[in-house]
Amino acid sequence: MDLTRKKPLGALLQQAAHGNLKRSLTAKSLVALGIGAIIGAGLFVRTAAASAQNAGPAVTLSYIVAAIGCAFAGLCYAEFAAMIPIAGSAYTYAYTTMGEFVAWIIGWALVLEYALGAATVAIGWSEYLNRLVPGGIPYQWCHSPLQTSDTGVQGIFNAPALLILLILTLLLIKGTQESATVNGIIVMLKVAIVIAFVLVGWQFVKPANLHPYTIPAGTPGHEGFFKHGWGGVLGGAGIVFFAFIGFDAVSTAAQETKNPGRDMPKGILGSLAICTILYIVFGYVLTGVCNWREFQTVGKEASVAYAAQHYMPGYAWLATAITVAILLGFSSVILVMLLGQSRVFYSMANDGLLPRLFSDVHSRFRTPYKCNIVLFFFVSIFAALAPGDVTGNLTSIGTLFAFVLVCIGVIIMRRLQPDLNRPFRTPLVPLVPILGVIVCGGMIVSLDRRTQLTALLWMAIGLCIYFLYSQRHSNLNSPALRRAEQAAESI
Ligand code: ALA
Repeated sequence: MDLTRKKPLGALLQQAAHGNLKRSLTAKSLVALGIGAIIGAGLFVRTAAASAQNAGPAVTLSYIVAAIGCAFAGLCYAEFAAMIPIAGSAYTYAYTTMGEFVAWIIGWALVLEYALGAATVAIGWSEYLNRLVPGGIPYQWCHSPLQTSDTGVQGIFNAPALLILLILTLLLIKGTQESATVNGIIVMLKVAIVIAFVLVGWQFVKPANLHPYTIPAGTPGHEGFFKHGWGGVLGGAGIVFFAFIGFDAVSTAAQETKNPGRDMPKGILGSLAICTILYIVFGYVLTGVCNWREFQTVGKEASVAYAAQHYMPGYAWLATAITVAILLGFSSVILVMLLGQSRVFYSMANDGLLPRLFSDVHSRFRTPYKCNIVLFFFVSIFAALAPGDVTGNLTSIGTLFAFVLVCIGVIIMRRLQPDLNRPFRTPLVPLVPILGVIVCGGMIVSLDRRTQLTALLWMAIGLCIYFLYSQRHSNLNSPALRRAEQAAESI
């Protein structure tokens, strides 16, 4: 049993060189793509959650910690994305460099990132839709059975979350290539709403809301190292890390980039930098305008619209504008996530690691429709029945784990194949990847025990599937491919 067998890199690079995808993207369009995928429920839902549960007003510092972890991982992603410029993801990089077993683990962790990420944003979408519907949607039909309202109503299932997933799945099956123009408009709308909230909100910031800056020790409900004080800042980082997820989606467009060696790092790091600045000022204004304690109770859902409505007198229109922009903006994030997940499953099925069903393409629409349908049911179970905190934290942990493996991958590859052409080199190897592992690993540790145990269970299920199915069905079992692999190793 060879756990390190690799997909031939030479063949992949050839495929990239002769691929029929048009190379039209520049660094600027990559930054737009990145921001389109990044700004979503993380900012508009998880900021308030992190501040209420762990960090208080110091959620701004949590954003800085999360951004540092992402920057280190982003530098490592950029090396892989420029070196293997094929439409793919961390899964593809790992398969050609670290071998099938690690690739499987990363692919399996990416399911948490994309599928549960889509579920989390769909749950956030439902919260904001609830604000637009006159009189609100009955509590039981827009909450999970694990949630109970202040008045004792228990949730049944989250119907709006299901609805948005259904609409977007149908769009995906029909083959919506989100056009650059639509993406551009949504990106501008999202950035405009963040800036408008910051500019208007700035004048309503009350210094009293920002003191004390971290949650004081001894605050009821905040027992535990990561629930208050400086530990709470790290705990909050694990939660708001969700807001950065998606920058790695930029790397999936490598094959359509004019000059991947130059533009990939700019696209990845540029979108990260812009989002970090927006997030920090946004977090400051949100917790300055509305006291973090309210995010534990009445302001828990659709927190940004809540803050605008209650603490920005004269700006009721802003709360409505935010809600509408968020509903549109979240849809684009869900679409990117569902698309990303179907691409990962599609690649895994093409490699023989998952049943062919996932790579079957519709005869007319030319999309992996069966994969999209299975995904819809999978994501819907979580979106309809689980609270956003649960799915959000699982998304964070899955992604953080994949980031850790990518960082380690850079170090391993520098040792194993030092002469490979690297149009972009992660600076200061091994320091930068090691710091990436430490910061991202720190955030994994800071997440709650239930999230960690569920993620472990998820990985255990993944290992069973790998050894019982994927290993036996892998394309690499074919002798022709093994020969190609040996040839590739000598490149
Ligand atoms: N970063 C994306 C969001 O915040 C996943 O919605």
